[in-house]
Order: sequence, then structure tokens, then C-alpha cells
Amino acid sequence: MILSTLIGLSALLEAVSASTVPRFEPYRSGFNLQTFKIDLAHDVHRMLRQVNETDVSNTFHFADSSAGITLEQLQSLRSQWLSDFDWNKEQAALNEFHHFTAEVEKLTVHFIHEKSNRPNAIPLILNHGWPGSFLEFVPVINNLTQMAKTSTGQEVAFDVVVPSLPGYAFSSAPPLNWTVDDTARVFNTLMTKVLGYSKYAVHGTDWGSGVAYSLYDNFNASVRATHLAFAPFHPATPEQLAAQNISLSPTEQFEESEAMNWNSAGSGYFYEQTTKPNTIGLALYDNPVGQLAWIGEKFQNWSDPRAGTGPSVLTNNEILKGVSLYVLTKSIISSIYIYWQNPNGFKSSYSKAHTDAPLLFSAFKYNIAFWPPALVQTIGNLVYYQNHDFGGHFAGLDNPPALISDLREIGTYWK
Ligand SMILES: *[C@@H]1O[C@H](CO)[C@@H](O)[C@H](O)[C@H]1NC(C)=O
Ligand SMILES: *[C@@H]1O[C@H](CO)[C@@H](O)[C@H](O)[C@H]1NC(C)=O
Ligand SMILES: *[C@@H]1O[C@H](CO)[C@@H](O)[C@H](O)[C@H]1NC(C)=O
Ligand SMILES: *[C@@H]1O[C@H](CO)[C@@H](O)[C@H](O)[C@H]1NC(C)=O
Ligand SMILES: *[C@@H]1O[C@H](CO)[C@@H](O)[C@H](O)[C@H]1NC(C)=O
Ligand SMILES: *[C@@H]1O[C@H](CO)[C@@H](O)[C@H](O)[C@H]1NC(C)=O
Repeated sequence: MILSTLIGLSALLEAVSASTVPRFEPYRSGFNLQTFKIDLAHDVHRMLRQVNETDVSNTFHFADSSAGITLEQLQSLRSQWLSDFDWNKEQAALNEFHHFTAEVEKLTVHFIHEKSNRPNAIPLILNHGWPGSFLEFVPVINNLTQMAKTSTGQEVAFDVVVPSLPGYAFSSAPPLNWTVDDTARVFNTLMTKVLGYSKYAVHGTDWGSGVAYSLYDNFNASVRATHLAFAPFHPATPEQLAAQNISLSPTEQFEESEAMNWNSAGSGYFYEQTTKPNTIGLALYDNPVGQLAWIGEKFQNWSDPRAGTGPSVLTNNEILKGVSLYVLTKSIISSIYIYWQNPNGFKSSYSKAHTDAPLLFSAFKYNIAFWPPALVQTIGNLVYYQNHDFGGHFAGLDNPPALISDLREIGTYWK
């Protein structure tokens, strides 16, 4: 039976490879039907050694940035990485801050701790996400430690703590069963036990908003104010907003459309990282240019089109610094695992945190997700909401003065 099937198959193969196929003659007209033979030179080793960009650019429409990073952008970033970029200089500047590591629940947690010289400074922990890092808060740290006034004239200064998420940069990778709630518990220990603050304020964005919300919800004795620039809840669709009678201003409509566009055309990486972290992680881990493409695209696409000008310090050098940190600390795989570990990290049903502590929120025009005040007030005790027409997903880089100013408003509500 098997043998006769094989004979049948080989006869069929012979018929297909014959150069004239008269039986098909009647169907040929108009379709240019030709016989075909696979004939690829099998010099895979040469391909591994070099990418022929002439070849690549002739083949695809690599100039369309809605299709991902363009070849030109990648080449330009790569050549800047090779020529101008100076990791040693960046590292020396970063070492101006006070860095620490602590062992908490068997994890090594890396963090920056910059204290204010004001005795009544508010302790504040800043939580980053992916593909960010502690670097995205560097432009705001020093100013937050300085005394300033809130909009109501109150004096405010912060003791600033910026940890690296477990599995990111210099923090060790957590066990496979780790979630953002576990990270929140570890960071609460960091703030209350390691650093000895009995109460503190929290900021979070991206995955860091999941950590921040978990702190806000689960540690209401120690977390006495929270500021978010992102929320761990799926943004509502226009239909869902309408069903709740939430109407949007023109600016808000733009932000809503950006969020919906991310959902339909920008979330491929999210599903890949949630479902197949090994595949993308192993493809990238020893491939700096691959990480530059995968991460660099996010920095470029998720920021204000004016990034790198005006208040924004999100330059190409900043992108290269961020990617270098991932490459040099070999943390791309462990960073991506946060998606796999938290498949429901962003929830569809909104729930109010178990706390009476104030919640402050900042929206930035070019962020990839949008929550109007009417939604944010369903997740906590919303006391302050500010919408900025400059900046994107990485507010600490793309509009640092606005982030500083909104964080300072914590002082208005701090007791
Ligand atoms: C690169 O590709 C182009 C176009 O396909 C070809 O002409 C050229 O010979 C290739 N160069 C190398 C080094 O393989
Ligand atoms: C998670 O994994 C760690 C180490 O693999 C184990 O010690 C711990 O008990 C696990 N936790 C839960 C909640 O399953
Ligand atoms: C929305 O407004 C309509 C008309 O004013 C009202 O009948 C409906 O109950 C409202 N729905 C919600 C969810 O508030
Ligand atoms: C960013 O990506 C979105 C899709 O996610 C696309 O519509 C948009 O054109 C891109 N923007 C830029 C500036 O590359
Ligand atoms: C704070 O959390 C506790 C549970 O740990 C809860 O019983 C209490 O109601 C919460 N406080 C507020 C104001 O929600
Ligand atoms: C930080 O404060 C200094 C001194 O007031 C100011 O010049 C600078 O613009 C501030 N930086 C940011 C990012 O707001």
C-alpha cells in the first residue's frame, strides 16, 4: 500500500518535471504557464556572514514606516552606533547617580536612589516598562529631588527611587511563574524595608503601570499617592465609550484614534511576545542590529513626531543608549518574558483600587493608548488629570518638564 503510493507519487513528480505538459495546453493561454524547478544556490554560510542591503532594498517597499522600521532608519541608527555612539561616555554619566542592588526574595534588584536635601521630601518610586528601562527617567530624576512649588503653591521635593524591573538591565530574571503583582510586592519591600520609607508615592508607565496599580491596590497603608501615564486596562473602543455616554474633545478623539490604530496595526510584537517569547527572544539575543530594529522601531513609532526637539530629549543617541543597555546586559529574552508571564496584565474589565489614596494621571498626545478622565476615575480616586499635546509613550524622555510638573502635583494631595 505504502509502496504503491510512493510509486504513484514518483510518477506524478516525473510528470510535473517534464518540460512539456501537453495535457495542460488548453489552460495555458493568458496565464503564461511554465514549468518550474527550484534552483537556489545553497550558500547559506555566505548569507549568515553578510546582509546584502542592495538586494534587500530592491525587493521590498522598505521606505514605508507604517510597515515597521525603514531600512534607511535602521542603517542610519546602525552607522551612528558604530561611529558616534560612545557607551563609555554614557556609562560615566549614568554613574553620576547613586546605583544600588539589593537581594529581595532571592532576586537581585537594581535601582537608582537619589535623595533630596529636603527633610520632608516625598519618597517616589518610578516604574518603567518595555522596551524602556531605568534610563527613561534619567532626565527627570535630579529636578524631582529639588524643591519646587505645586500649582497651589505648596513646596514639594522627592527622594527618587528608580528600579529596573526583574529581568531588565541589572535586575536578575525572576522565576517563570512571576507576575507584576510579585514585582509590586518586591518593590514595596524595597521601599519600606530596604529603604525604610513607611509611606511613599508611586509612578508607572507601560508594564510599570501594572506594577504601580498593583502597589496602589494592594498596599494602601504604604502607597499614599499614585501617578500613572498609562493604565493596565485595555482602552475602550469608541463604541464602548459611546455606550458609557463618554464624549471626547477633538484632541481626545485624535488620541483615541492613535490607540485604536495601535490595536489594529501596531500590536503584532505584543502578541508575539505574549505567545512565543522564545522564538523572538532567541532570534534577537545575539543580534544587536536585530534588537536595534525591534526596539528602535518602538521608540520611533511611539514618540512625538517632534521627538528630539523642543522639550523632547528622545534623540537617536537616546535610542542607541536604550538598545545598548539591552544588548550589553543580555536581557532581551528575560525582558520579553514579562508578556508571557502576564497574559492578562492588561485587563478588559475596569476595577477600582482598594484605597482612598489620590490618583493622578497624565495623557500624552502621541501615546499608543488613551484613557479619558471618565475611565480613569473608575480605577481609583482620581484627583488630577492632565492631557499634554506634546510627547508620546516615553514621557520621561519625550516631555520631561511635563512629567516633572505633573509628578510635583502629588505634593498638593500628600498627607
Ligand atoms: C548584492 O545584490 C545585488 C542585487 O541583487 C547584486 O548585484 C550584488 O552583486 C550583490 N552583492 C553581493 C556582495 O553579493
Ligand atoms: C514559583 O516558582 C518558584 C521557583 O521555581 C517556586 O519556588 C515557587 O514556589 C513558585 N510559586 C508559585 C506560587 O507557584
Ligand atoms: C446614556 O445616556 C442616555 C440618554 O441620556 C441614558 O438613557 C443612558 O442611561 C445613559 N447610559 C449610561 C451608561 O449612563
Ligand atoms: C506607526 O505605526 C502605525 C501602526 O502601528 C502606523 O499607522 C504609523 O504610520 C506609524 N507611524 C510612523 C511615524 O512610523
Ligand atoms: C485597604 O486595604 C485593606 C485590605 O488590606 C482593606 O480592608 C481596606 O478597606 C482598604 N482601605 C481602603 C480605604 O480601601
Ligand atoms: C530642571 O531644572 C533646571 C533648573 O531649574 C531647568 O533649567 C531644566 O529645564 C529642568 N529640566 C527639566 C527636564 O525640566
